[in-house]
Formats: sequence, structure tokens, C-alpha cells
Amino acid sequence: MLSLAGRDLHIRGSAVHDVQRRVASSRIASVAALPGRMYLVGRHNAAELAKSARWLARSREHTNFTYDLTPLNREHLAWFIAEVTARSVGEIRAYFEEVESDRGLHEHLRRAIKASDRQRLADRDVRFGRRIGWYALVRALRPAHIVETGTDKGLGTCVLAAAVRRNGAGRVTTIDVNPCSGYLISGRYGAVVNRHIGDSIDVLGQLEVVDVFLHDSLHTAGYEHAELETVGPRLTEKAMVLSDNAHASGTLSDWAEETRRRFLFFGEQPRDHWYPGGGIGVAWSRSS
Ligand SMILES: C[S@@+](CC[C@H](N)C(=O)[O-])C[C@H]1O[C@@H](n2cnc3c(N)ncnc32)[C@H](O)[C@@H]1O
Repeated sequence: MLSLAGRDLHIRGSAVHDVQRRVASSRIASVAALPGRMYLVGRHNAAELAKSARWLARSREHTNFTYDLTPLNREHLAWFIAEVTARSVGEIRAYFEEVESDRGLHEHLRRAIKASDRQRLADRDVRFGRRIGWYALVRALRPAHIVETGTDKGLGTCVLAAAVRRNGAGRVTTIDVNPCSGYLISGRYGAVVNRHIGDSIDVLGQLEVVDVFLHDSLHTAGYEHAELETVGPRLTEKAMVLSDNAHASGTLSDWAEETRRRFLFFGEQPRDHWYPGGGIGVAWSRSS
């Protein structure tokens, strides 16, 4: 049974709902909703502006941004890689922890950044973002030959090389048109990497067998397609084909359909960064 005060509140609540219902179905509905809508979009944009200001003050990066994933997004990535590799999510989570807590890799990257003449355009804190997914995929599948187009600093290359080193077998080929690329690749990580400076299409045409291919060079649909067409005949039956451009183009999914492969996409959600995130597109053979 409601108390007197409770009954009073209940009556007032129903009156408010009644007014809301009438306004919502009246001609002024859209005008009445405007202040609330302005508040929602303003709150969202103010948070984005604050993130952007923090990034301008703290980061030095001007391209190929690095960040961590939100905890929930990292968990979704674990499920994504588990599905693609047909491994347990527990195994994939363990690979994530392995690379994130790899002190040797972090130390190597920090030292290489500090020693570089481009250190003023790089952050000292090393953050892998979606690359932990690349790492886990290589750890789970133990491919013999991984090919990455687009080296940039060599952050992805070092992550892939760290996975190969833990596997105890395999090689990474990385290709970049920029002769100043790859300054992070040295020491024990460089020992398992073949670096090529040149146009990726030219270099891909000279390769033999590829088990994991990662497109991360010139992000136009036409160029991505040309890389897929060139690497296609070199792929092993169970090859995994990854694209770092699948958030922006349908090239990999179209190619997967043409070549009767499966396709899945994971979208990144960077933590405390204004960049909306990239993702991982994966195409792989139906029979594997
Ligand atoms: C997004 S970055 C690569 C990021 C890197 N994979 C990583 O994990 O940080 C793209 C790179 O592609 C290179 N690139 C652009 N056009 C290319 C081409 N035609 N052939 C090879 N590399 C190219 C650029 O020089 C740039 O370093």
C-alpha cells in the first residue's frame, strides 16, 4: 500500500508523463526536444575536445598513432582472434598478456626510439593497439612466413618478430617505399626480419610462399586490391590475409568473396585518444 507522500509522488509522476506524452505527439515536439538533444551532443563533443587537448599536450605523434584499446574492446579482440584461429579465448588472452608484459620488447622499443633522430615525433610510451591481435594470431598459428606491407617505424614488424621469436621459428618480411622507415627494427628482432625498401607490388611479385599477409601500406582501395592480386598466387592453402584498411574500404571483403574465402572485421576503440580507431580485416580459406 502507498503512503500519503508516496501517493502524492505517484500522482505527480503520472501528471508529468501525461504532459510528456502530449508534448511528444504535438506540433512543438521537435522544438521541445532541442535542449535535451543539444545537451547530449554538447556533452559528447566536450569530452572529445578534452581528449584532443590532452593528446596535443602529451603526444608527439603526427601519423600512424599509437594507443591502447579500451578494456572491453581488448576483450572483443580476444574473441575475434579466437574465432579466426579456432583457438580458445583463454589461449588468446594469454598471448595478449605475453606481449603486453614483454619487458625485453618494451625496453628495445624505448631504446630504439630514444636513439632515433625522429624521437621528437614519437611517444616514449609504447602502445600496441590492434597489433596485439596480430601478435596473438601469429602465436596461435605459428606461420613460417609473414609478410607486412608498410613498415613505417617498424612497430608492427617488431611485434610480429617478437611472436616469431617466441614461436622459435618463422620469418617476417616487411616492405616500405620510404628509405627512412624501420628504425625500430634491430637486434634480436631484426634477426628474424627481412627488410625491403621499394614499392610493395614489385617486392611481393618476387616472393615465393606466404602464410600470413598483412596489407598496411598505401591505403587506397585500388592499391590494396593490386597487392591482394599480386600476393594471391603466393598464398599457402591455409594462409591468413589481413588488412589494416578494412575499416575504410571493402577491398578485402570483396576479394574474399571473389576467392571464396571467409571474412571478418574487428573495429578498434582507442582508449583516451581522439582517433576513432582502425581495425583488423581477416580473410581466410573456407576449408581451414
Ligand atoms: C600505416 S604505415 C605502416 C604502419 C606499420 N605497419 C605499423 O604497424 O606501424 C604505412 C606505410 O606504408 C608505406 N607505403 C606507402 N606506399 C607504399 C608502397 N607503394 N609500397 C610500400 N610501402 C608503402 C609508407 O611509407 C608508410 O610507412
